[in-house]
Amino acid sequence: MVWLSSESLVICFFMTAHVIPVESRLKRIKSTQLDDNEGAFLSSNIFGNSVDLRSKRTPKVTGFEPGDKATDFKVTTLDGEFVYPPPTETQGSLIIHAFTNKSGFLECMWNSESSLVSLVQGLPETTQVLFLSLDDSSVSDALWMREQVHGVAMKRKKEILSRLHFSPVPVFALGNWIPSVLYSWGCTGHNCGFSQAVFSSPLWKMPVIVKRLDARYDWLTGRWGQRTNQLIYAGNGCEPSPSVTGAVAWVSEGNCSFFTKVQNMAKSNASGVLVYALRGSPIKDMNCVADECFEPIGIPAAMVHLEPSVAQALLHGQLVNVSFQTTPSPNFFFGIDQQGSLSEMGWFLYPTFKFINWQAQWFDYYDSLQNRLQSPAKVVSVYDKAQMQGEEGAVITLDMPSDMLDFDMLELDTSLSCPGQRDSTCAHWDHTVQLYVCCDHFSLYCNMELGRWITPFRRGTGRWLTDVSPLLPLFNSGRCTFTMKTVAWAMPWVVSLNLRFSHINQTGNPRDKLYPFKLLSLYRGGTFDKSYNKKYEPIKFTVPASTKKVELYSVITGHGSDENGCGEFCVTSHHFLVNGVFNNTRIFDSAGSALGCAMRVGEGAVPNEHGTWLYGRGGWCDGLQVNPWRINITNQVDISGYEANTLLYLGLYGGKDPNPARDPGYIVMFSYLVFYK
Ligand SMILES: *[C@@H]1O[C@H](CO)[C@@H](O)[C@H](O)[C@H]1NC(C)=O
Ligand SMILES: *[C@@H]1O[C@H](CO)[C@@H](O)[C@H](O)[C@H]1NC(C)=O
Ligand SMILES: *[C@@H]1O[C@H](CO)[C@@H](O)[C@H](O)[C@H]1NC(C)=O
Ligand SMILES: *[C@@H]1O[C@H](CO)[C@@H](O)[C@H](O)[C@H]1NC(C)=O
Ligand SMILES: *[C@@H]1O[C@H](CO)[C@@H](O)[C@H](O)[C@H]1NC(C)=O
Ligand SMILES: *[C@@H]1O[C@H](CO)[C@@H](O)[C@H](O)[C@H]1NC(C)=O
Ligand SMILES: *[C@@H]1O[C@H](CO)[C@@H](O)[C@H](O)[C@H]1NC(C)=O
Repeated sequence: MVWLSSESLVICFFMTAHVIPVESRLKRIKSTQLDDNEGAFLSSNIFGNSVDLRSKRTPKVTGFEPGDKATDFKVTTLDGEFVYPPPTETQGSLIIHAFTNKSGFLECMWNSESSLVSLVQGLPETTQVLFLSLDDSSVSDALWMREQVHGVAMKRKKEILSRLHFSPVPVFALGNWIPSVLYSWGCTGHNCGFSQAVFSSPLWKMPVIVKRLDARYDWLTGRWGQRTNQLIYAGNGCEPSPSVTGAVAWVSEGNCSFFTKVQNMAKSNASGVLVYALRGSPIKDMNCVADECFEPIGIPAAMVHLEPSVAQALLHGQLVNVSFQTTPSPNFFFGIDQQGSLSEMGWFLYPTFKFINWQAQWFDYYDSLQNRLQSPAKVVSVYDKAQMQGEEGAVITLDMPSDMLDFDMLELDTSLSCPGQRDSTCAHWDHTVQLYVCCDHFSLYCNMELGRWITPFRRGTGRWLTDVSPLLPLFNSGRCTFTMKTVAWAMPWVVSLNLRFSHINQTGNPRDKLYPFKLLSLYRGGTFDKSYNKKYEPIKFTVPASTKKVELYSVITGHGSDENGCGEFCVTSHHFLVNGVFNNTRIFDSAGSALGCAMRVGEGAVPNEHGTWLYGRGGWCDGLQVNPWRINITNQVDISGYEANTLLYLGLYGGKDPNPARDPGYIVMFSYLVFYK
């Protein structure tokens, strides 16, 4: 069992503490499994043609692809005019959101108190948002959106209102390039597309088509099929109802929880549940609360508005059938980062403005990364948009600069992008990427791991700077072969890697600096089962002469899923015991937490991926570098070189040896002792 924070619950109107079983919630969901079944890869372009996003030949509207520079524009707003770029000194990021009440998702996002509070409290200071409407109702939409935010902002944070801009001009009348981005960028799955329920009855000439919002993706994993189902009224759904067997149950909101309704209908063998909102109430994000989330339910459910003709027909005993569809929509969101580049916003897994905030946080991260990359360094380009795929991966041999060991700092500037400019061209799954280096082919240190990352689910914007200075001794010859790879069957990634050699303290006297000069390779991971620790023996070592500092350096990640979710989603602890007394411990305590990885967007975790990127994991996040764990153990060892020291590593689950009943997970680990002089 894993305790998840209350953050996991953004039911539209309330929040409650939340407990979720590993197995029911934390399953790996591939991006395509989260897509709606129909139209999953289709989006409409500006001319209404269907575009198959699986094809690499996605038609291109030149100049308006992700990564291209945004050109100047002006938009009339309720307060005057919004001008891009803003005439201010420092350019922040801009998010553009086009609202339409034809989307149940957007209706919920804009009515949910917790969603609005997230926007008001969580939007980064550097970000402005321009709100547009796609419809003829743009004037009332703009006024209404402003009213929704205003109510929450006045109570909490008035300042934010100056960064939010509401345009009364509909998107189709903007007269600038913004519509071409909204209409042409592919957008499928969560947060775009119009999810709908289609009702038909023998007495009607036309079907009645209404917007729907499916229950939270990780509560109910059942999906609506292509089938037409009979619709049967089942009151408020607070009691089981035998009449709904094989049909979609039509139940009213209220009197008991969403969970109770859906569970009752599932027990009554309904094939799905439509909960209609109380009159005058908005559509809500149906979710389980606390213990409810332990109970798996196998049927889909969605929320809709009460449709009078449907209610009338059912009241008069007429047959009503229902089927489910998703009609492609324009994109509802895109961003412009601090560098002025157009950016996709990825998936919003559920209706909350938090996903806007996460994207904006990432723009801030990326901007600060650009600044860090301005600092002086000797840059060696290893890969420049090289394709990484298959058994071999990306391999290159390079002559290294002769002065590389004069530096005491080495950083990896790595980016992972996709074959095309759009996220839809990216690989679906999250996989471990490892970078190996071999300089002296006769050395024990040939093809040791230099860096590790995890690929994001289908987003091509990741870039990270990783400090691997302690591994400088791996560069033990002037010519080095680099190999970067992920699983052989993954779709291709496009990698760029620069080595950045520099000085930790630019102004320091070189004689006062410490240089790593020797490595001792320690433990590797393996299958995380009851014999995991049995294979490890204590390692004896003496500290080499003239050593001034001794450091433990390790990169540890947990993967796989036994009955406890180990090692990806369980809390494991890792211990390096030095000389029998110093217990150097690291606990992956955010593994399995609802927002463990969402909280790391500011460190570079790619936000809004097309998969379950939010959950914390065993020492890693999707779309992020794996941070090395470094401990200065100088005072734990005999540094004189006379006495032998001992070191032992253990990996535990719940403070004990792991002992899974089935499908043991595994630990990927490289660890070294680093000697500095
Ligand atoms: C959105 O649509 C719902 C139902 O169709 C309606 O009740 C609500 O007033 C609409 N909201 C806005 C802002 O138009
Ligand atoms: C209504 O749905 C039922 C069950 O799927 C099907 O047998 C029937 O033909 C449908 N009727 C109409 C009019 O679509
Ligand atoms: C169910 O909820 C509705 C709307 O809140 C309320 O009017 C009604 O009295 C409730 N019924 C019962 C049996 O509690
Ligand atoms: C639901 O289906 C199961 C299995 O077919 C059956 O045992 C059960 O009686 C059904 N329940 C209802 C309420 O029809
Ligand atoms: C860098 O070195 C200088 C000179 O030795 C020293 O005064 C300064 O404190 C050092 N800065 C840092 C950040 O260590
Ligand atoms: C490492 O630990 C030693 C002993 O505690 C201490 O003297 C030294 O300053 C530390 N070095 C660094 C770089 O933190
Ligand atoms: C190290 O600490 C962990 C937890 O803090 C504990 O479970 C483990 O038994 C300790 N190991 C030793 C050898 O003291």
